[in-house]
Amino acid sequence: MKQRVFVTHKLPGKEIDKLKEDFEVDVWSDKDIGRKDLIDKVKGVDGIISLLTEKIDKEVMDAAGENLKVIANYAVGFDNVDCEEADKRKIVVTNTPGVLTESVAEHAIGLMFSVMKRITEGDKFIREGKFAGWEPDLLVGTGVRDKVLGVVGLGRIGRWTVKLANSLGMKVIYHSRTRDEEYEEMEGVVYHSLEQLLEMSDVVSLSVPLHDDTKGMIGKKELKLMKRSAVLINTARGGVVEEKDLIEALKGGVIAGAGLDVFWDESKIPVDLIKLQNVTLTPHIASATIEARLSMAKLAVDSVRSVLLGRMPEMVVNMKK
Ligand code: GLV
Ligand code: GLV
Repeated sequence: MKQRVFVTHKLPGKEIDKLKEDFEVDVWSDKDIGRKDLIDKVKGVDGIISLLTEKIDKEVMDAAGENLKVIANYAVGFDNVDCEEADKRKIVVTNTPGVLTESVAEHAIGLMFSVMKRITEGDKFIREGKFAGWEPDLLVGTGVRDKVLGVVGLGRIGRWTVKLANSLGMKVIYHSRTRDEEYEEMEGVVYHSLEQLLEMSDVVSLSVPLHDDTKGMIGKKELKLMKRSAVLINTARGGVVEEKDLIEALKGGVIAGAGLDVFWDESKIPVDLIKLQNVTLTPHIASATIEARLSMAKLAVDSVRSVLLGRMPEMVVNMKK
């Protein structure tokens, strides 16, 4: 009998079709799968390809049962998967790093430009019929050359953001859990504590994964350390920032603006945030380039295939101990 794989959502490209050659593959539709259907559908499967919007926890692993050998998360972030629980059961958890690095870093820089050059504000201005001709002081923004960009988190995405910012003539500083002096030398970037970085930066860009140590790492206290002219960019996870504190800071002029691709509850963006002029909001699309999304599908499928054929895949995020 063929091993069974459940895919929780249709994915771009033809990779899933290829997976069908070797395994019995069941794909949910192009709608979000609810919790109840998820629990029901995973029964007895050998592999799951999941999205970041689905909580893959003990209950799901219990429902799947002891055949389950691999959970391939279609994302680089894997905070939605209970890796400790997977460890206990020797289930391999994989993600899709590397292939969306440029896409996400480009998005961070795009959000930065959008806020600083007031692009979305300008777009709205025209659509609202307010534009009546060129004016010297209409929607005047801020340039980025010689401004300080503080990158928080020096994974692949952080590093590509550094490269892009360097090419824009920005001064780049970074903070991360581990310092990399060789890298500093190579890219000409300077390490600082988070507090120092927040105080020094004109733009702060977050590229850390969400886990216990990063949850709410930017709250009221941290926002207060930032310059009043500074802009916060978040393409990581909503949970890294205390959203209520951010909204208050943006309302009160504690910081100047924000570019956000991720939110606390992505099914319910706070009205207070939507009302703000000085923010650009995008619907968690930082990795949404056709190049990235096709490669993510390939990586997820390759991971499932490897595990089910008895090999260790390339992108394992658990089983470290
Ligand atoms: C997107 O947010 C991802 O983690 O890939
Ligand atoms: C993700 O690819 C990261 O390492 O930042």
